[in-house]
Amino acid sequence: MSEIAFLLNGEVTRVADAAPTRTLLDWLREDRALTGTKEGCNEGDCGACSVIVTDKSGSRSMNACILFLPQLHGCAVRTVEGISGPKGELHPVQQAMIDHHGSQCGFCTPGFITAMAAAHKNGRTDHNDQLAGNLCRCTGYAPIIRAAEAAEDKPVPAWMEEDLSRLSGITETRDDWARPETTVELAKWYLDHPNGTLIGGATDVGLWVTKNLKDLGPVAFLNNIDDMSDIRITDDLVRIGAAATIADVMEAITPIYPDFAELLRRYGSAQVRNAATIGGNIANASPIGDTPPALIALGATLHLRRGVERRDVLLENYFIDYGKQDRVPGEFIEAVSFPRSADRLKCYKLSKRFDQDISAVCGCFNVRVIHGVVTSARIAFGGMAGIPKRARAVETSLIGKSWDANAADRSWDAFKRDFTPLSDMRASAEYRLEAARGMLMRYLLEDLGADTRVLDVSPPVIVERSASDAARAKPATKTDDPELSAVAAAAALAASAAAEEVAAKATPADAPVSRADTKSENTAAATDARKTDPAEAAESAEKTETADEGSKAAAPASDTPETSSDDAKGTEASASDASDAAPETGGDKSDAADKSAPKTADDSKSDAASNGDDTSDPTQKPQTTEVTDAAKEAAKDGAPENSAPQDTAATPDDKTTDVEPAPKADASATDTAEYPAKPDDAGETPPDQVAIILPPPAKDTPEDKS
Ligand SMILES: Cc1cc2nc3c(=O)[nH]c(=O)nc-3n(C[C@H](O)[C@H](O)[C@H](O)COP(=O)(O)OP(=O)(O)OC[C@H]3O[C@@H](n4cnc5c(N)ncnc54)[C@H](O)[C@@H]3O)c2cc1C
Ligand code: FES
Ligand code: FES
Repeated sequence: MSEIAFLLNGEVTRVADAAPTRTLLDWLREDRALTGTKEGCNEGDCGACSVIVTDKSGSRSMNACILFLPQLHGCAVRTVEGISGPKGELHPVQQAMIDHHGSQCGFCTPGFITAMAAAHKNGRTDHNDQLAGNLCRCTGYAPIIRAAEAAEDKPVPAWMEEDLSRLSGITETRDDWARPETTVELAKWYLDHPNGTLIGGATDVGLWVTKNLKDLGPVAFLNNIDDMSDIRITDDLVRIGAAATIADVMEAITPIYPDFAELLRRYGSAQVRNAATIGGNIANASPIGDTPPALIALGATLHLRRGVERRDVLLENYFIDYGKQDRVPGEFIEAVSFPRSADRLKCYKLSKRFDQDISAVCGCFNVRVIHGVVTSARIAFGGMAGIPKRARAVETSLIGKSWDANAADRSWDAFKRDFTPLSDMRASAEYRLEAARGMLMRYLLEDLGADTRVLDVSPPVIVERSASDAARAKPATKTDDPELSAVAAAAALAASAAAEEVAAKATPADAPVSRADTKSENTAAATDARKTDPAEAAESAEKTETADEGSKAAAPASDTPETSSDDAKGTEASASDASDAAPETGGDKSDAADKSAPKTADDSKSDAASNGDDTSDPTQKPQTTEVTDAAKEAAKDGAPENSAPQDTAATPDDKTTDVEPAPKADASATDTAEYPAKPDDAGETPPDQVAIILPPPAKDTPEDKS
């Protein structure tokens, strides 16, 4: 005889001898006639079945369709029928949905109401994220989000409190399933049932049952094992218990590896993250699981246990082949750990939908740079092979070389050596390869201070490749390498100036000028180009960073058209591209952002001059002079036609003004927004003539995921 017990809408409820894989959704609808909880997809994707589950660690929304009844033992469940008060009083989110017309056909509405009530109870105001797992086909999200916002400051009704103590004293025994409370108990059970199934959050296993109608045999639920849900973060180590949920990992990791947390924000939905465990995400060994690439890039070790035996294995070695892992029957993942180090991790998830979608490609980068040279690299991808895989050839192509604007190009061929991706419904092999290369380029660009998030930038600025090389060289606001900014910034300035010159020549006098923010940043960083003393360069880089973080008005005087047009020639961005690129609106980097009207080139001159005079940072004006000189030298020394930065791999110490002649511009390329360019058929050398999207002005509007 087995019995599980939980609170259902505040009432103690006991279920005897339920099949361990009976889902909460089926039980609610079929056994309790609580049909407010809807069945949409029956696989965790739509949120129509959302309920609120409360345990000792708090309340969260979860998908009833992939929750098995034993997972609820000792918890409280609140369905849409239990959201309103005992006398029919509406919950604040219900009232707000009425007030803001948040429901049309109404099928999705119960799921929204429960997810909103859970978020309301937790004081969450990130409504886009909290409701990303709830699909609505007809209302449109704006009224729903407005309703969530309207309910924000209303108190949580008393009836939403749960008294879990009323569940004490309940016992459970059964042969075909277990609910261990310690790793010791689990280890023993798994030794006895080596062919049994462990169930973490059931976000995979649940689908085996609801979609494949699979008989799981004996099962053990892991969601009650406290010592396997621990997350411990010390000065030099992060250790995450295998049963920790993705939601808990996300919260814990945010302060130390924010980009990892950002990746997790796009993992499924709030409902999925509240159930799924990190151990399950590793153990299922999906080639497109999101946590393994990040963990491999962080150098993670897996802690495995079988009975009393324990062993450690590097995560990158755990995945042997598609469907094959280094784990024997009866062995389970107890924890995963990785050394804590300065944060250099960036994660890029590419999926067809922003939210609630599995990756087509997920790339995670952890590259260390000292004095402009790559000293170590850990790069891993999901979606590029049958397993999550480290990009060793790419890493080798970077290590010991300059971390400069050409670094990504130098790794071009290495991607082909590391990966032979497959084509499937998510992406073609060619797309995956190019996307992976693009991710490295993006990491590099971001490291050099460029805005690259598509949600942060608009409209795009399209210039020729030669200019793009320069554009990659934005100030070293995030790199630890002042020398890098010296080389890169001179080229960036020159390219920006060249594009501007073309715009000035080819557009009417009242055409908008080039973006102030890009130029001012480039110019500020380019200060370093003249400095040969590393200490001086470092100091300058620091000032640049300060200016960038503060008013974002670093060296507006750098906009001087003289600098642009006189000193760096040859990058022939098309006139239309250049002028398209130009509006001084939307940027947050300079005082130009305050001015709504487009400016003329002449305005720009005078503004630039006055900006330079007015700048509150006295270091900025001399910097501008130096920049101008640096660009002149750059053009004089070797780039009469162009000003792309030299491949500094051979001379990493030469951090001043050397440039290499860039290929002559191909006018036809300027219409193309393809990036990175597809290698030509002849080989894997990246083509020189491609158009590229420069970082446009920072956005100031909130994300719109509707
Ligand atoms: C709607 C939806 C969206 C999703 N979105 C994403 C996404 O964006 N990114 C992503 O990566 N995944 C996503 N997934 C996949 C899924 O969430 C993950 O694979 C999940 O992490 C599995 O964890 P779990 O705890 O739910 O595992 P379960 O389903 O409980 O188990 C999965 C497998 O791991 C085994 N297992 C679990 N714990 C252990 C352990 N400690 N030791 C050994 N074996 C163990 C189980 O026996 C089983 O074989 C999504 C799934 C759904 C349904
Ligand atoms: S029915 Fe779609 S998430 Fe459960
Ligand atoms: S109200 Fe119809 S699907 Fe949302």
